[in-house]
Amino acid sequence: MAGPIGVFDSGYGGLTILSAIRSELPEYDYVYLGDNARAPYGSRSFDIVYRFTLEAVEELFARGCHLVILACNTASAKALRNIQQLDLPRLDPSRRVLGVIRPTVEAIGDVTRNGHIGIFATPGTVASGSYEIEIAKQHGDFAVTAHACPMWVPLVENREADRPGADYFVRQEVDALLAADGDVDTIILGCTHYPLLYDKIRAAVPSRIEIVRQGEIVAHSLADYLRRHPEMDARLTRGGRTTYLTTENPDKFSSLATLFLGHDIEAERIEL
Ligand code: DGL
Repeated sequence: MAGPIGVFDSGYGGLTILSAIRSELPEYDYVYLGDNARAPYGSRSFDIVYRFTLEAVEELFARGCHLVILACNTASAKALRNIQQLDLPRLDPSRRVLGVIRPTVEAIGDVTRNGHIGIFATPGTVASGSYEIEIAKQHGDFAVTAHACPMWVPLVENREADRPGADYFVRQEVDALLAADGDVDTIILGCTHYPLLYDKIRAAVPSRIEIVRQGEIVAHSLADYLRRHPEMDARLTRGGRTTYLTTENPDKFSSLATLFLGHDIEAERIEL
């Protein structure tokens, strides 16, 4: 039976990815699952992120999703490979789980001129080395500097992203990244929340540096995947509907979701 596309994130941030996907592919149905009760994932260990993410993927499979996007960089970094290699063959080899790191890394090949890449991400994503590994695989010897920004997710979630206090924390991380490699010409925003800080990051980063946001990249990559995999496309329902699930209080989720989506939604609470 055909089903919706599953979009998973540790909490709210994946809504930035969902938004971009829905703009590009509005005809499909989606189920968004935010594990808000256990977020943030960014500072959690490998084993925990893997276990939580697997539980979420199993839940989305049980709800009829044949295709699940891990819209969370931390989950993509710490859980995707294990799920693809160890769990999918056991759960259902015909289903697919895709992440956000690979398409982002594919896209930077067309952006950088000198191969010096900076990455802003959560401590967990940085510690995993996933961007470095994927960049080495796809582009060879690019110079990669990944920098953790532990304050940026809390700033966004506490509605401080466009207030003056955020300037200090943005400037601090931008300066640290550029001190580590002054030749960086491309910066990846490797965390779902960071697009909400885009204006401040743009203002703090020299204009010669390109800043790469993931939403559109992931959306293009998904559209391309579906063109190349008609057998998967045929297993997706089309009704333009989105269901929102959260492991936290649904009213709380709906209220902050508005910040990420720009419109109101209703969410349902589930247990994982
Ligand atoms: N969604 C996470 C990511 O993209 C950020 C929030 C968290 O740490 O859970 O890495």
